[in-house]
Amino acid sequence: MQKIAVVTGASSGIGAATARRLAGEGFHVVAAARRADRLDALVKEIGADATAVACDVTSDDSVAELAATVAGLGGPLALLVNNAGGAIGLDPVATGSTRDWQAMFDVNVLGTLRVTKALLPALEASGAGTIVTVGSTAAFTPYEGGGGYVAAKHAQTALVGTLRLELSGKPVRVVEIDPGMVRTEEFSLNRFDGDHERADAIYAGVAEPLVAEDIADIIAFAATRPQHVNIDRLVVRPIAQAAQHKVHREL
Ligand SMILES: NC(=O)c1ccc[n+]([C@@H]2O[C@H](COP(=O)([O-])OP(=O)(O)OC[C@H]3O[C@@H](n4cnc5c(N)ncnc54)[C@H](OP(=O)(O)O)[C@@H]3O)[C@@H](O)[C@H]2O)c1
Repeated sequence: MQKIAVVTGASSGIGAATARRLAGEGFHVVAAARRADRLDALVKEIGADATAVACDVTSDDSVAELAATVAGLGGPLALLVNNAGGAIGLDPVATGSTRDWQAMFDVNVLGTLRVTKALLPALEASGAGTIVTVGSTAAFTPYEGGGGYVAAKHAQTALVGTLRLELSGKPVRVVEIDPGMVRTEEFSLNRFDGDHERADAIYAGVAEPLVAEDIADIIAFAATRPQHVNIDRLVVRPIAQAAQHKVHREL
């Protein structure tokens, strides 16, 4: 029976690229996100090696349905990629919106908790499970205006580090991938509420930001090492970004 990989946030960006890549690596991919139309198109493109599941990671019931669908497929659950997430706004702490902060915590932190909890029994039962969580360089470096996202990504990495300790002795690897600047179609656009000008400014003059396929490649690499090899954490940036604030721009 084909090994199963669940990818959250698979309707765009890094998640969609990861779903395509993992299908190419021989997994049956369960592509989860809220927008069913985009998932259906993706699954159609991938073919028989994928299943679309409309899922909102901020809802316990929705995540329970995802787990039930995965169980119904009958194969071993080998891989979970916790990728659903994102940032809202660039407000300083002084004027931070509690609503935006709550939304960022719900998707990035509690979403990772909900999906991990729901699928952990199946990952363990497979005898060779892997959980890859997509964090961010914001998980360890604050930046001005990033407060809510930085705090959420710090919390997400705390969850991942704790989980690795708690699973000691169990057959489940716990991996974190922390990307720097990745130019995906929607991340910055969502952050700035659809404002193309502000979204484009993030990447202005950066010759080659990372693209979704670069991170999909890293996720596939980590997930396909021999099972005794646990890559705790990989930080991945474009060459133009030597550090969070040190971005080479050709303007
Ligand atoms: N782009 C970057 O520069 C960058 C850098 C570092 C880390 N990251 C992290 O990488 C991950 C993917 O980012 P991306 O750049 O690929 O962004 P993206 O293109 O905006 O994709 C985000 C994905 O998350 C899904 N999602 C959002 N809320 C959800 C919810 N409540 N339930 C289920 N799915 C949800 C979205 O699908 P639906 O809207 O259809 O639900 C979408 O598929 C995120 O965790 C982000 O924080 C991104």
